Amino acid sequence: MTILVTGGAGFIGSNFIESWFSLSTEKVINLDSLNYAANIEKISQFTNKYNYEFIKGDIGNEHLVKNLLKIYKPTTIINFAAETHVDTSIKNPNIFIKNNVVSFFNLINISKEYWNSLNMQCRSSFKFIQISTDEIYGSLKKTDAPFTENSPYKTNNPYSASKASANHIAQAFFTTYGFPTILTICTNNYGPYQFVEKFIPNVINSAINNQYIPIYGNGEQIRDWIYVKDHCNALIELIKYGTPGESYNIGNNNEVTNIKLAIFICDILDELSPKQCGDNYKNQIKFIHDRPGHDVRYSINANKIIKHTKWIPIESLESGMRKTIYWYLNKKQEKKF
Ligand SMILES: NC(=O)c1ccc[n+]([C@@H]2O[C@H](COP(=O)([O-])OP(=O)(O)OC[C@H]3O[C@@H](n4cnc5c(N)ncnc54)[C@H](O)[C@@H]3O)[C@@H](O)[C@H]2O)c1
Repeated sequence: MTILVTGGAGFIGSNFIESWFSLSTEKVINLDSLNYAANIEKISQFTNKYNYEFIKGDIGNEHLVKNLLKIYKPTTIINFAAETHVDTSIKNPNIFIKNNVVSFFNLINISKEYWNSLNMQCRSSFKFIQISTDEIYGSLKKTDAPFTENSPYKTNNPYSASKASANHIAQAFFTTYGFPTILTICTNNYGPYQFVEKFIPNVINSAINNQYIPIYGNGEQIRDWIYVKDHCNALIELIKYGTPGESYNIGNNNEVTNIKLAIFICDILDELSPKQCGDNYKNQIKFIHDRPGHDVRYSINANKIIKHTKWIPIESLESGMRKTIYWYLNKKQEKKF
């Protein structure tokens, strides 16, 4: 078996490859264009593995993707490749549509042609996994029930609109051509190696570098957090047991407001790395102008994946956050941040 991982140099993709290698010796081909969010240090740990190959390239490159599928003959394709930062999508939506919709279409369309060329046995075991986000469901009111896989898509920013578009394309490819797509729809991830523009690394990084900790609006937006390795383990279960044509929510019932989470992180930092002046990190928090179209609340009902696979999330918000904070503190000590 060979798995093609696209976007495998990013935060979740590189953690996924690490989790994959901890369970399997099957070959991984990592195709990544290495944009600003890619983490070369993280993927360099795989370089010497006999069953790993890295290819720098774009999922939108028709010739490259065609050749790659012809040469490596993957049995599974898992797509993490995307532009992922909501704020950037508000400033520059065109790269999100080009990358997350048009380039994605190239990947899935060529993958479908490749799948058509396989013999019956290989066709029936092949899977194409598209990694998506709970942001496609839009925003919940505080009293609403969590999103299920049947919740309608209701996007509020160019990032989520581009991700929802890719999901529609993947679903249409299953319905129209029988191409075996699986959609995975996950809540906010956190953990080591996340790019600093995202909420949790930004809070930790600003705190330990003595800068103000920016919180949008009143900080009352609610997010549902999952430790990245729990997400990766869920994906491995879906590669094994997921049913083509289905979508699966992935989450860990960790709803918390942004302001409470920032204070929680500051409290852990006070314990693990107290400031010399005796001050508390939370005094660095500063409320800034809110993001336009800012979703109020995300919450995921993950009962379906729990029922259909052996997956359960392991890390609590506290245990996962402590691991994450330790990692950033160590990086700071190594002067890598
Ligand atoms: N981070 C989260 O909280 C979260 C939650 C749910 C779903 N997701 C989804 O998971 C996926 C991965 O997210 P992430 O946080 O690891 O993102 P990331 O921004 O850290 O990494 C994305 C990776 O994809 C690569 N890439 C981008 N466009 C590419 C292209 N056209 N061709 C090849 N490579 C390309 C980048 O170089 C980068 O290495 C995304 O699809 C995202 O929408 C993320």
